[in-house]
Amino acid sequence: MYDRIIKFLPHELGLPWEQVRVEVDGELVSWMQTFTVPHRLRGATLESAGVVGVHTADAHQMRGHMRFMLETVLERAEGRGVPLSMLYGGVADVYHRWAYATVMPEFRFSISTRRAEAVPGSHRIRDGKPEDRPAIARLYNRETAGMTGVRVREPERWLGPRQGLYFGRLDAWVQVALSDDGRIVGYCIGDQIEGDAQRLDIVDAQATSSAVAGSLIRAMAEEAIRHRMGSLDFHVYPTGRVGRYLQNLDVSMTTERPISRAQMVRLSLPGAVLEALQPYAREQAETLGPDRPARLTIETELGSGDLALGGEAPARKIGLPADRLCELLFGYRSAEELREIHGVRLAERDAELMDVLFPRLDAYCYWPDRY
Ligand SMILES: CC(C)(COP(=O)(O)OP(=O)(O)OC[C@H]1O[C@@H](n2cnc3c(N)ncnc32)[C@H](O)[C@@H]1OP(=O)(O)O)[C@@H](O)C(=O)NCCC(=O)NCCS
Repeated sequence: MYDRIIKFLPHELGLPWEQVRVEVDGELVSWMQTFTVPHRLRGATLESAGVVGVHTADAHQMRGHMRFMLETVLERAEGRGVPLSMLYGGVADVYHRWAYATVMPEFRFSISTRRAEAVPGSHRIRDGKPEDRPAIARLYNRETAGMTGVRVREPERWLGPRQGLYFGRLDAWVQVALSDDGRIVGYCIGDQIEGDAQRLDIVDAQATSSAVAGSLIRAMAEEAIRHRMGSLDFHVYPTGRVGRYLQNLDVSMTTERPISRAQMVRLSLPGAVLEALQPYAREQAETLGPDRPARLTIETELGSGDLALGGEAPARKIGLPADRLCELLFGYRSAEELREIHGVRLAERDAELMDVLFPRLDAYCYWPDRY
């Protein structure tokens, strides 16, 4: 028998980050980082335990060390009442074992530098500085308040973008757009440009008006041209201001809807998540009139929760796997799709009810917040 221990250590970035290490007989075998941050879900704000940089040393793989580490991290977070956990699954088909489900599409707008350079730009753009972070966080929070999936950036604590598109490989850089009186009215976060890069990746961009969006796009085009790049890729939300501006240009937009990889979420405490969604569900339920159920109980293998729907019909109870419920709550799949495509066992009338309570939507998390 070996002696296996887990340690939670301070992280160089400070709280809320922590280092996690698993040691066997004193030797480091597995490691990861974790941090608890708030994310938005249909108008509610919920804490989520982030799972980052999961690794087991080659010689120690397939011996259950990662399972032990992840389960300990999750139990600890649940013990503190953290209802969600998020990760970016770089390796497919690993994390479904712990009921993580992919719940966010990936968007990409590709535009040639020549096209982007023709966009009118009237705002002054300068390099972002560390002291701009609170203003950037506030602007981001305002622009993304109605979205699902996004992280809330606490203005006094947000550490700025830690990563670009490729975890661990590139730093990110920031450009800000200024109003005539010098206020920050927009920003762009891009991947640090490597010598041989063919295109510039923009991983987050927010603007307070469409004119600011144009100025940012043009400034990014000029940056790309300075580095002899032919195109720009914006990985932004299509209905944000920059996304909307891009949609009105001659660009190609691709949407991927990954399965069992990429941005994944786990409902660690389904009861707490449903409780937070109660106001949203109640408002949705009202469209159904008085013959809706008085109450809906949803049972999963990770726990159950209740929604008071305020109707006159008898209470209902449905059972769903936690990962499928997660897809529904984050709007990635409708209940009808879960039933028809994924063979989830749900009565027709229950699927109809769930689709009224939690209609389809596109959740999104900006890249610098994914790790
Ligand atoms: C992926 C990785 C962390 C797994 O660590 P590990 O300690 O070998 O994992 P465990 O032995 O605890 O296995 C846990 C479960 O995951 C499964 N699993 C492990 N590696 C897997 C892989 N590469 N693909 C799919 N499933 C895998 C195991 O079969 C096991 O499932 P089971 O308990 O249902 O049988 C490790 O292979 C690694 O560090 N790889 C390189 C870095 C990496 O890809 N990190 C992930 C970034 S998202």
